[in-house]
Amino acid sequence: MISSRRTFLLTSSGAALGTFYAPGLAAADSADSQTTWAASGLATGSPIPLRNKSIPDFLSEKQLAIHHTSHYGGALRGYSTLDDSLQSETAFASNALASMLRSRVSKGNSVILHEIYFARLAVEANKPQGDLAAMIRKRFGSFEKWEADFVAAGKSAAGWALLVHHPVNGKLYNVASDEHAVSVLWMATPLVAMDTYEHAFYLDYENRKAQYVEKFVAHIDWQAVQSGAI
Ligand SMILES: [Fe+2]
Repeated sequence: MISSRRTFLLTSSGAALGTFYAPGLAAADSADSQTTWAASGLATGSPIPLRNKSIPDFLSEKQLAIHHTSHYGGALRGYSTLDDSLQSETAFASNALASMLRSRVSKGNSVILHEIYFARLAVEANKPQGDLAAMIRKRFGSFEKWEADFVAAGKSAAGWALLVHHPVNGKLYNVASDEHAVSVLWMATPLVAMDTYEHAFYLDYENRKAQYVEKFVAHIDWQAVQSGAI
């Protein structure tokens, strides 16, 4: 079911890409619930279990566990608390309203980006295929040039480096987004999310952020990217 759908999507026309790159829509009829956004913490209130307990030569079990439990889990708990509070009418008379509204967006984005981050990392990387591979070549010149651009974006980012697909013009962009909600390209769908906060790497790499960023691209699961897995 999954593989036949992937084959269709990878070989389908450009017209289908908009659906394909909108995670959840493409996989809505999938038998594997983990590939749909229905499994997101924003939908269920519970964290998605960690896919890889460790990624040898990249991230240790301790690093991944703390990141998943404290930071992804913490963002989800914070989002849920704020969302509940903002359902109350008294919230709209509060002096804290502005910060609550902004914080809900920041924490909600953090949940989504962490889900993409954890789900699309693999012990062994694979390469993009079909239409996505062609789109990367067209936009960046080659896969290697995309990779170099993405690594540079990661080194410059104080939050996230993202590969996103924009449904309006069909273009791919590498963007650097800080604070979960700054430099967001509206309507664009994140395909690859690299967490560049220190909490993502400090246990394993201390202050050697460049090393972590350079290794990240060697562990992207492009099959998971192309199936919209979370
Ligand atoms: Fe994080």
